[in-house]
Amino acid sequence: MKSVFFGAVSATALIASAVHAEPQAEVLHWWTSGGEAKSVAVLQEEFAAKGGTWTDMPVAGGGGDAAMTALRARVLSGNAPTAVQLKGPAIQEWYEEGVLADISAVAEAQGWADVLPASIAGHMKCEGNWCAAPVNVHRVDWIWANADVLEANGIDMPTTWDEFNAAAEKLQAAGVIPLAHGGQAWQDATVFEAVALGILGPDGFRKAFVDLDMDTLKSDEMKAVFDQMRTMRGYVDENFSGRDWNLATAMVMNGEAAFQIMGDWAKGEFMAAGKVPGEDFLCASVPGDGFLYNVDSFAMFDVDGDDKKAGQDLLAELIVGQNFQKVFNLNKGSIPARTDVSLEEFDSCAHLSAKDMSESSDNGSLLPSYAHGMALRGAQSGAITDVVTAHFNSDMSSDEAVNMLADAVANSM
Ligand code: GAL
Repeated sequence: MKSVFFGAVSATALIASAVHAEPQAEVLHWWTSGGEAKSVAVLQEEFAAKGGTWTDMPVAGGGGDAAMTALRARVLSGNAPTAVQLKGPAIQEWYEEGVLADISAVAEAQGWADVLPASIAGHMKCEGNWCAAPVNVHRVDWIWANADVLEANGIDMPTTWDEFNAAAEKLQAAGVIPLAHGGQAWQDATVFEAVALGILGPDGFRKAFVDLDMDTLKSDEMKAVFDQMRTMRGYVDENFSGRDWNLATAMVMNGEAAFQIMGDWAKGEFMAAGKVPGEDFLCASVPGDGFLYNVDSFAMFDVDGDDKKAGQDLLAELIVGQNFQKVFNLNKGSIPARTDVSLEEFDSCAHLSAKDMSESSDNGSLLPSYAHGMALRGAQSGAITDVVTAHFNSDMSSDEAVNMLADAVANSM
């Protein structure tokens, strides 16, 4: 500290010490299931290998609702974490609060604009500056199945909702739980949006959950979506309330249940348990066209300290790094956000995802997941999910549900 007293010399010394600050990061995330923990460990290891010290702040709870509550408390108390798993419009909402750090210097030095699709890059920018780093592309509209259970019951992966319902009836008669589901609001929303994409089609989905078009929200097609949800309520077991999503995946793994409708983080769970796609479990997109994407990303919060700032720069650089994007996504069940990562080591479900994503991007059916916070601001997506959950857990009619949906959305704006 002596150099502080020597004018120009001290300035140089301070700059030098900033450059050599040892990277530190307290990282808030919700990746606590088997597959998720294995995935985030890849980042921890790369960070440590580059001399970083990682302080883990995991907040359990699929979909991240609990993590976002914890984040709010930390920011309000003036003690934001260094880096936070944050995605979709929530990134811009936090930016508007004036609490996010600008990571443009890293993004530009690493040429992110050249390796990320424009649709993903758009989510990572705040008023033209880079304010988040993407790790992956999860697809939400998947059906997972236990291969042996389907075979034993003479059932193929359904390609229409009628086929799905027929398969479910047959399974139920055979004593198998047709649909593994966890009754948590975000899981209800996940199933709902997959059904909605299938029944409304990509244009209808966009009108309803991106444009919030009242006519579509109240349409007969939306009633049909709620009808299908009501039918599916009959296919879940009686202990579904509150169950975590990975426990629902485990029910498919062990043959207790046949299907799960869930994003491909479920594949991360199958893989972590040593299950083989195409042999032990099957993947197919839900009946209908389109692709619902959910891009995980990290935002850096404004914090003091050269060590933390060095940690943020290092994290941002590693996250979009080619090797990390490969290894992380092999574990996570998603595909890389970067377009220049070879998919050679990835499985058939990942190849299907990449192919469908590029086709849907070309034909305008690549859509943001509302249930995973990619399409709407929190107030609007929360209003929709409240109705979806209220309907699923009661005997509300589809007519009532669409009216309530339209009112809830109108009041949230
Ligand atoms: C999603 C998130 C995934 C996965 C899932 C379950 O919202 O994007 O990475 O973690 O929740 O927790």
